[in-house]
Amino acid sequence: MRTQTRNLLSNLTITLITCLLFTSCAEKQLEEIIEQQDGEKTMDTAESVQTAEPVVVLPGLPADVAGYTQWLKLNTEPIPLVAGGDPHNGTKNVYVNKTREDIASNGEQQFPYPDGSIVIKEAYRPGKDYVGLIAIMRKKAGVDPDHNDWEFIEYTRNAADTEFGVIAEGRICWGCHARVEDIDYVFTELE
Ligand code: HEC
Repeated sequence: MRTQTRNLLSNLTITLITCLLFTSCAEKQLEEIIEQQDGEKTMDTAESVQTAEPVVVLPGLPADVAGYTQWLKLNTEPIPLVAGGDPHNGTKNVYVNKTREDIASNGEQQFPYPDGSIVIKEAYRPGKDYVGLIAIMRKKAGVDPDHNDWEFIEYTRNAADTEFGVIAEGRICWGCHARVEDIDYVFTELE
Protein backbone atom coordinates (compact mmCIF):
# COMPACT_ATOMS: atom_id res chain seq x y z
CA MET A 1 0.00 0.00 0.00
CA ARG A 2 2.83 2.38 0.93
CA THR A 3 4.72 1.54 -2.22
CA GLN A 4 1.59 2.15 -4.23
CA THR A 5 1.17 5.61 -2.75
CA ARG A 6 4.82 6.40 -3.41
CA ASN A 7 4.47 5.26 -7.02
CA LEU A 8 1.37 7.30 -7.45
CA LEU A 9 3.12 10.37 -6.03
CA SER A 10 6.16 10.01 -8.25
CA ASN A 11 3.96 9.49 -11.32
CA LEU A 12 2.10 12.63 -10.40
CA THR A 13 5.37 14.56 -10.05
CA ILE A 14 6.57 13.42 -13.47
CA THR A 15 3.26 14.40 -15.03
CA LEU A 16 3.43 17.80 -13.34
CA ILE A 17 6.99 18.47 -14.52
CA THR A 18 6.17 17.39 -18.07
CA CYS A 19 3.16 19.66 -18.00
CA LEU A 20 5.19 22.65 -16.80
CA LEU A 21 7.91 22.07 -19.38
CA PHE A 22 5.41 21.71 -22.18
CA THR A 23 3.49 24.82 -21.16
CA SER A 24 6.57 27.05 -21.02
CA CYS A 25 7.74 25.61 -24.33
CA ALA A 26 4.36 26.13 -25.94
CA GLU A 27 4.23 29.66 -24.57
CA LYS A 28 7.60 30.43 -26.11
CA GLN A 29 6.50 29.08 -29.48
CA LEU A 30 3.36 31.13 -29.29
CA GLU A 31 5.39 34.23 -28.47
CA GLU A 32 7.55 33.59 -31.52
CA ILE A 33 4.52 33.19 -33.76
CA ILE A 34 3.01 36.39 -32.41
CA GLU A 35 6.29 38.22 -32.99
CA GLN A 36 6.42 36.99 -36.56
CA GLN A 37 2.87 38.08 -37.18
CA ASP A 38 3.40 41.38 -35.48
CA GLY A 39 4.58 42.78 -38.78
CA GLU A 40 5.89 46.27 -38.73
CA LYS A 41 5.44 46.64 -35.01
CA THR A 42 8.80 46.57 -33.26
CA MET A 43 9.46 43.68 -30.93
CA ASP A 44 8.93 44.75 -27.38
CA THR A 45 10.97 42.04 -25.68
CA ALA A 46 13.62 42.52 -23.04
CA GLU A 47 16.21 41.60 -25.68
CA SER A 48 15.33 44.42 -28.07
CA VAL A 49 15.09 46.93 -25.22
CA GLN A 50 18.77 46.29 -24.52
CA THR A 51 19.85 47.07 -28.09
CA ALA A 52 19.80 50.71 -29.12
CA GLU A 53 17.57 50.31 -32.21
CA PRO A 54 14.47 48.11 -32.32
CA VAL A 55 14.38 45.33 -34.92
CA VAL A 56 11.85 46.17 -37.63
CA VAL A 57 10.19 43.28 -39.44
CA LEU A 58 7.96 44.21 -42.37
CA PRO A 59 5.32 41.63 -43.35
CA GLY A 60 5.71 39.88 -46.71
CA LEU A 61 9.42 40.59 -47.14
CA PRO A 62 12.12 37.90 -47.35
CA ALA A 63 13.75 36.92 -44.04
CA ASP A 64 17.23 38.02 -45.11
CA VAL A 65 16.28 41.70 -44.91
CA ALA A 66 14.69 41.58 -41.45
CA GLY A 67 16.16 44.32 -39.26
CA TYR A 68 17.67 46.18 -42.22
CA THR A 69 17.25 49.55 -40.50
CA GLN A 70 20.11 48.48 -38.24
CA TRP A 71 22.43 48.02 -41.24
CA LEU A 72 24.89 50.59 -42.52
CA LYS A 73 22.97 53.51 -44.08
CA LEU A 74 24.64 54.85 -47.24
CA ASN A 75 22.89 58.23 -47.21
CA THR A 76 23.11 60.67 -44.29
CA GLU A 77 19.96 62.66 -45.12
CA PRO A 78 16.77 61.07 -46.53
CA ILE A 79 16.88 61.09 -50.36
CA PRO A 80 14.08 63.41 -51.52
CA LEU A 81 11.47 62.73 -54.16
CA VAL A 82 12.87 63.25 -57.66
CA ALA A 83 10.72 65.97 -59.26
CA GLY A 84 9.09 65.13 -62.57
CA GLY A 85 9.12 61.35 -62.16
CA ASP A 86 10.78 59.27 -59.48
CA PRO A 87 11.39 55.59 -60.32
CA HIS A 88 11.03 54.73 -56.64
CA ASN A 89 8.40 57.35 -55.85
CA GLY A 90 9.02 58.68 -52.34
CA THR A 91 11.45 59.79 -49.65
CA LYS A 92 14.16 57.17 -49.46
CA ASN A 93 16.91 55.59 -47.37
CA VAL A 94 19.44 53.05 -48.62
CA TYR A 95 21.07 50.42 -46.40
CA VAL A 96 23.66 47.69 -46.96
CA ASN A 97 24.38 44.54 -44.94
CA LYS A 98 28.09 45.43 -44.71
CA THR A 99 30.20 47.52 -42.37
CA ARG A 100 31.94 50.76 -43.32
CA GLU A 101 35.19 48.81 -42.86
CA ASP A 102 34.00 46.16 -45.41
CA ILE A 103 33.16 48.57 -48.22
CA ALA A 104 35.39 51.57 -47.49
CA SER A 105 38.45 50.13 -45.75
CA ASN A 106 40.70 53.11 -46.60
CA GLY A 107 37.97 55.68 -45.99
CA GLU A 108 36.83 55.73 -49.64
CA GLN A 109 34.17 53.42 -50.94
CA GLN A 110 35.54 50.48 -52.93
CA PHE A 111 33.76 48.86 -55.90
CA PRO A 112 32.49 46.32 -56.78
CA TYR A 113 30.45 45.28 -53.76
CA PRO A 114 31.51 41.89 -52.33
CA ASP A 115 29.54 38.71 -53.04
CA GLY A 116 26.66 38.35 -50.57
CA SER A 117 26.01 42.10 -50.37
CA ILE A 118 22.39 43.15 -50.00
CA VAL A 119 21.49 46.75 -50.81
CA ILE A 120 17.99 47.73 -49.79
CA LYS A 121 16.03 50.89 -50.34
CA GLU A 122 12.94 51.87 -48.41
CA ALA A 123 10.60 54.60 -49.62
CA TYR A 124 7.90 56.50 -47.82
CA ARG A 125 5.32 57.45 -50.45
CA PRO A 126 4.55 61.16 -50.68
CA GLY A 127 2.39 62.18 -47.71
CA LYS A 128 2.45 58.69 -46.13
CA ASP A 129 4.02 57.78 -42.80
CA TYR A 130 4.74 54.11 -43.45
CA VAL A 131 7.20 52.33 -45.77
CA GLY A 132 5.35 51.68 -49.04
CA LEU A 133 8.21 50.44 -51.22
CA ILE A 134 11.17 48.16 -50.67
CA ALA A 135 13.69 47.69 -53.49
CA ILE A 136 16.40 45.07 -53.09
CA MET A 137 19.67 44.34 -54.90
CA ARG A 138 21.41 41.11 -53.94
CA LYS A 139 24.90 40.26 -55.15
CA LYS A 140 25.02 36.52 -55.85
CA ALA A 141 28.01 35.00 -57.62
CA GLY A 142 26.97 33.59 -61.02
CA VAL A 143 23.36 34.85 -61.02
CA ASP A 144 23.85 37.47 -63.81
CA PRO A 145 27.50 37.96 -64.82
CA ASP A 146 26.51 40.51 -67.49
CA HIS A 147 25.19 42.84 -64.81
CA ASN A 148 27.76 42.34 -62.08
CA ASP A 149 25.78 39.45 -60.56
CA TRP A 150 23.09 41.65 -59.05
CA GLU A 151 19.59 40.25 -58.56
CA PHE A 152 16.99 43.07 -58.57
CA ILE A 153 13.55 42.85 -57.01
CA GLU A 154 11.00 45.34 -55.74
CA TYR A 155 8.05 45.08 -53.32
CA THR A 156 5.23 47.49 -52.58
CA ARG A 157 2.12 47.84 -50.44
CA ASN A 158 -0.64 50.42 -50.28
CA ALA A 159 -1.49 50.44 -46.58
CA ALA A 160 0.42 50.27 -43.31
CA ASP A 161 -1.26 47.07 -42.18
CA THR A 162 -0.93 44.99 -45.36
CA GLU A 163 1.77 42.64 -46.61
CA PHE A 164 4.32 43.58 -49.24
CA GLY A 165 4.05 41.92 -52.66
CA VAL A 166 6.50 41.72 -55.58
CA ILE A 167 5.86 44.39 -58.20
CA ALA A 168 8.85 44.14 -60.57
CA GLU A 169 12.26 42.56 -61.00
CA GLY A 170 15.15 41.96 -63.40
CA ARG A 171 15.59 43.70 -66.73
CA ILE A 172 13.39 46.74 -66.04
CA CYS A 173 15.64 47.47 -63.06
CA TRP A 174 19.13 46.92 -64.42
CA GLY A 175 18.13 48.69 -67.64
CA CYS A 176 18.13 51.94 -65.68
CA HIS A 177 20.77 51.05 -63.06
CA ALA A 178 23.24 50.40 -65.91
CA ARG A 179 23.66 54.20 -65.98
CA VAL A 180 25.89 53.78 -62.95
CA GLU A 181 27.63 50.61 -64.10
CA ASP A 182 30.99 52.19 -63.22
CA ILE A 183 30.05 52.25 -59.51
CA ASP A 184 28.62 48.71 -59.58
CA TYR A 185 25.03 49.65 -60.55
CA VAL A 186 24.34 51.32 -57.20
CA PHE A 187 23.36 55.00 -57.56
CA THR A 188 23.67 55.94 -53.90
CA GLU A 189 27.24 56.19 -52.68
CA LEU A 190 28.41 55.90 -49.07
CA GLU A 191 28.40 59.36 -47.44
C1 HEC B 1 14.30 54.80 -64.34
C2 HEC B 1 15.40 54.39 -63.55
C3 HEC B 1 15.26 53.31 -62.49
C4 HEC B 1 14.59 52.12 -62.55
C5 HEC B 1 13.74 51.58 -63.67
C6 HEC B 1 14.86 51.43 -61.31
N1 HEC B 1 15.65 52.19 -60.50
FE1 HEC B 1 16.37 51.67 -58.68
N2 HEC B 1 17.16 53.52 -58.47
C7 HEC B 1 17.16 54.54 -59.41
C8 HEC B 1 17.79 55.72 -58.86
C9 HEC B 1 17.99 57.05 -59.57
C10 HEC B 1 18.18 55.41 -57.56
C11 HEC B 1 18.90 56.32 -56.56
C12 HEC B 1 18.08 56.71 -55.37
C13 HEC B 1 16.84 57.48 -55.72
O1 HEC B 1 16.92 58.60 -56.20
O2 HEC B 1 15.76 56.92 -55.51
C14 HEC B 1 17.78 54.00 -57.34
C15 HEC B 1 18.03 53.31 -56.18
C16 HEC B 1 17.80 51.96 -56.02
C17 HEC B 1 18.26 51.17 -54.91
C18 HEC B 1 19.14 51.66 -53.79
C19 HEC B 1 20.60 51.55 -54.27
C20 HEC B 1 20.95 52.58 -55.30
O3 HEC B 1 21.13 52.20 -56.50
O4 HEC B 1 21.02 53.77 -54.97
C21 HEC B 1 17.81 49.91 -55.08
C22 HEC B 1 18.04 48.72 -54.17
C23 HEC B 1 17.05 49.90 -56.31
N3 HEC B 1 17.07 51.16 -56.88
C24 HEC B 1 16.44 48.78 -56.83
C25 HEC B 1 15.69 48.80 -58.01
C26 HEC B 1 14.87 47.69 -58.47
C27 HEC B 1 14.75 46.37 -57.74
C28 HEC B 1 14.28 48.08 -59.63
C29 HEC B 1 13.33 47.31 -60.50
C30 HEC B 1 12.13 46.84 -59.93
C31 HEC B 1 14.73 49.44 -59.90
N4 HEC B 1 15.58 49.84 -58.89
C32 HEC B 1 14.37 50.18 -60.99
C33 HEC B 1 16.66 54.43 -60.66
C34 HEC B 1 15.92 53.36 -61.16
